[in-house]
Amino acid sequence: MPAIDILQLGSNEGEDYAGNLRVLLAASGDLRNVVQTVARVPSNYNHSLEITINDRDLDIVARNIILLLIALVVEDTNEAIDCVIHIWYSALVRESDMDILQSRIRPLIEDVCQKVKDKASKRLLAKTWTFGQRSLRVVLEKSSWDRLLSFVNNPPGLTAEQAHKVRAATTMAESRRDYRDRQTYCLSPLRRIALTKFRQDGLLLPFGFPRHEFQIPNPTFFHTADTWPLKDNADPLGGWSSEDVAATSSGPATADINGKLFYYLRTLLRSFLDRLSSLNVSFKMFQVDASSLPGHLDSDTFSRIEVSNISDAGWLGIHRTLYYMMPLLQTPPENPHATLITLFMNAVDETLTEDDMRRDLTANSQNTKRVFKYLPKSGNPRSPYDPILIKFNLGRDLVRTYDHIFDRYFKKFKFREAADFAGAAVKEKHTIIDKWPYRLKLRPGQPGAQVEFDRLMSEGLSGKERYMEWKKL
Ligand SMILES: C[S@@+](CC[C@H](N)C(=O)[O-])C[C@H]1O[C@@H](n2cnc3c(N)ncnc32)[C@H](O)[C@@H]1O
Repeated sequence: MPAIDILQLGSNEGEDYAGNLRVLLAASGDLRNVVQTVARVPSNYNHSLEITINDRDLDIVARNIILLLIALVVEDTNEAIDCVIHIWYSALVRESDMDILQSRIRPLIEDVCQKVKDKASKRLLAKTWTFGQRSLRVVLEKSSWDRLLSFVNNPPGLTAEQAHKVRAATTMAESRRDYRDRQTYCLSPLRRIALTKFRQDGLLLPFGFPRHEFQIPNPTFFHTADTWPLKDNADPLGGWSSEDVAATSSGPATADINGKLFYYLRTLLRSFLDRLSSLNVSFKMFQVDASSLPGHLDSDTFSRIEVSNISDAGWLGIHRTLYYMMPLLQTPPENPHATLITLFMNAVDETLTEDDMRRDLTANSQNTKRVFKYLPKSGNPRSPYDPILIKFNLGRDLVRTYDHIFDRYFKKFKFREAADFAGAAVKEKHTIIDKWPYRLKLRPGQPGAQVEFDRLMSEGLSGKERYMEWKKL
């Protein structure tokens, strides 16, 4: 999911809000929402900002800790920015990146491991690093502190060639060729080149950038010499607004989408670091299940809580999400803008019935007519596997609306009862993120409509992604 600014201070408390802010990312995934939020804190805001970041997965948390430490300890801004981009996204990194990990980050972690070496492996241990008016507090089990150290060291004997082979066995797997073809088919020819190159070499760089310096396996990815821990389709582009990335200049290589992302990230990370250097920011990081977070947070309450899609039924579900998160949200008298942000990525697909689908399959259905306004008719499909049908089906998903389906889900899972029980109220008017941010906003034929459709088709979003905002009663 593309990053969001979870504060949106300007349209909530106001750009010159005179209170302190506390935000919680309870199932954070990577740092993209943190970076986006801090980078967009208005320059007139000068009170304190406390950011609590939790994920139950150590692979995620360890990388987040390392990336934040790089941002906090490397004084040279340009050096910090490029190191963060490479460690975040590239399978192989430069010697200078590895030097930063080894000489600046490793001693900080090693020092903690040394101090706690005699503690029991399940014992929770906290360490706070302070850097001027910024601080980072990390709470991990003793065994996780030891594992954190392994994220800055490569497995013995792992060469760049081997690392490349291990990754390619996933990203270029023969068994996934059909999947790749489907994805590629929905892209413009130039986007196909960028996608294929990243699948092959795993380096997030502008297309023409020299690659010879990238010779060291990224130790935050390679924990053993024979596994690549990401999905084959994991793509850095997925984490950011495709509109913002497309609008970024990549110089004369105007269609270089990964170059655009690279330059976009450089600018964004510069704003992030600028804001970090002038704000009074403290980070707290945990690696626990969101349901046990309340037990770890003293009596902190938050101005914003963002939970990714753990509110989907397959994860924690809405009942438990509200039950555990609502007590952590500030009350309206404390802050009338305090908001819990939940995301539903799977709700629509889980609720759509065969009848719903069938209704849309007729040649005369409104959605079929609508999709043909974007996709020129190019002959009749020759088989059920004809590529025309692949595009047509994806396109039809995009031109539909799903409010009625989500209403059904809302009733089926008794959202009202869950809200009453947890003392929560649905925010009818959203102030952080649109209810359906990735649905088509333009009608076919309006200026920009085709570009919007083509962009969403190539992005891998379906228009079914639904955010809900909640306040405390
Ligand atoms: C909910 S997942 C969703 C990822 C992505 N949106 C998707 O559907 O593929 C996002 C993050 O939540 C974390 N997560 C899942 N359940 C959690 C829980 N109960 N407590 C804390 N973190 C959790 C995962 O480790 C992951 O990093």
